[in-house]
Amino acid sequence: MDSENVFQHLLQIIERYHENLTQGRFVAYHEPEDLNTLLQLDEQTEGDWAKLFQWVEKYLAYAVKTGNPAYVNRMWAGANLPSIIGEIVTAVSNTSACTFETAPVSTLMEQYMLREMLNLAGFEDGVGQMTTGSSNANMIVMMAARNVVCEVGKSSGLFGQPRLCAFVNGDAHYSMDRAAAILGIGTDNLIKLQTDSHGRMDLEDLEQQIVKAKEDGAIPFFVAATAGTTVRGAYDPIEPLLALREQHGFWLHVDGAWGGAAILSDKLRSRYLPYVGEADSFTLDFHKMLGTALMCNTVLFNKRPAILQQICSAGDESYIFRKGAGGELRDLGSQSLQCGRKVDALKWFLDWKFYGRKGLAKRVEGYLELCRYAEAYIHDAVELEMVVPRESFNVCFRYKPPQGESVVAFNIRLRNRMQQKERGLVGTGYVDGQLALRLLVTNINVGKPELDTFFENILLTGREIMETP
Ligand SMILES: Cc1ncc(COP(=O)(O)O)c(C=O)c1O
Repeated sequence: MDSENVFQHLLQIIERYHENLTQGRFVAYHEPEDLNTLLQLDEQTEGDWAKLFQWVEKYLAYAVKTGNPAYVNRMWAGANLPSIIGEIVTAVSNTSACTFETAPVSTLMEQYMLREMLNLAGFEDGVGQMTTGSSNANMIVMMAARNVVCEVGKSSGLFGQPRLCAFVNGDAHYSMDRAAAILGIGTDNLIKLQTDSHGRMDLEDLEQQIVKAKEDGAIPFFVAATAGTTVRGAYDPIEPLLALREQHGFWLHVDGAWGGAAILSDKLRSRYLPYVGEADSFTLDFHKMLGTALMCNTVLFNKRPAILQQICSAGDESYIFRKGAGGELRDLGSQSLQCGRKVDALKWFLDWKFYGRKGLAKRVEGYLELCRYAEAYIHDAVELEMVVPRESFNVCFRYKPPQGESVVAFNIRLRNRMQQKERGLVGTGYVDGQLALRLLVTNINVGKPELDTFFENILLTGREIMETP
């Protein structure tokens, strides 16, 4: 084999992998030491195309098939086919989406998609950006809020400035802590609010904490509503937060990394995300429920068209950036936190053109229906119970162990045995201190029969553990 026919060979391998994605086991499970022995990573294979493809085959043989219906572990699963095509083309054409001159089509596609998203969110006169994920999106937004409240923040830093306080749902994603740490806010000044019985932020607590922060001389500058908390799937209510914003003048962000996908469906938007169009910013991961290949994120700002330019811009036209003939901004990298930027726009654009908003809305609605089905299954199975009632897309349940056995130890054992026996991979999380198996349906290859199989495997594994204590 030589370099001339590598693509033919590669496509055959990819095709075979893809055809078998939904069949058989989701993984050939091995402990790290065994896998190391199998992989033989020290083997010398320089310049040998045939051997190179053996590495590729090995990679795929032991990779977790995230598109397999037994994989219900994370917020993302096997990617949409159009976006996989986009990823391959992006890799072949290897460029950085930093400047128009190196990435002309991707620049226009990204701008097109951002306009589509701003329209979808109902953000007028806004601006958006693709980032590397919602963790970074949350940080960029917090930075924007920080620099709006502290105008000298970008140039002089926070030295000598009043203390800034940010507020999030007690179950908010850990990226908020990291953002507070990186931005000089300090994690002690990220106030984690109590949650109500639905896992939503307690608004009374928020109000009290804001008043307290003010009394202590701090500035309550930022509140993030989570649209779909990571473990429980709770949606913080946006409307009352708008009223509080009016009163206290903070920046209101909506972290829709996971549950923001409800925005695609009019029905689900009015149920889960009413008033989102009035928030200051919104982030949504297309690589989660919407199935675009990892990573594909968008962060949107409302009514502040120049905000990214103000907070992120650095670098000038001396070596990298160029303006258009009319002085207009052409280079998306000039307002990004990165210099080199992976082209994520092509795969996103292809998914959008192939499925359209309606197709994606139907998908999200379908997932919700499957979550209802899963919850009903759990209610019907005497061995299982919901840890808390389902709020939206997250199904938090557990196996009821025999009397006297620890719920936590039993369910962790069950989860690990499911993985080792190659029956399925399900996530875990804690809700109000109680361990839950977190079932997430975010895979187009999962339907009711696949959920039945998943639960049958849970029941089988639970029985096995009880028989072999
Ligand atoms: C609510 C929420 N916000 C942010 C994130 C971070 O997203 P990303 O993995 O794209 O950085 C997650 C990830 O699970 C999340 O659940």
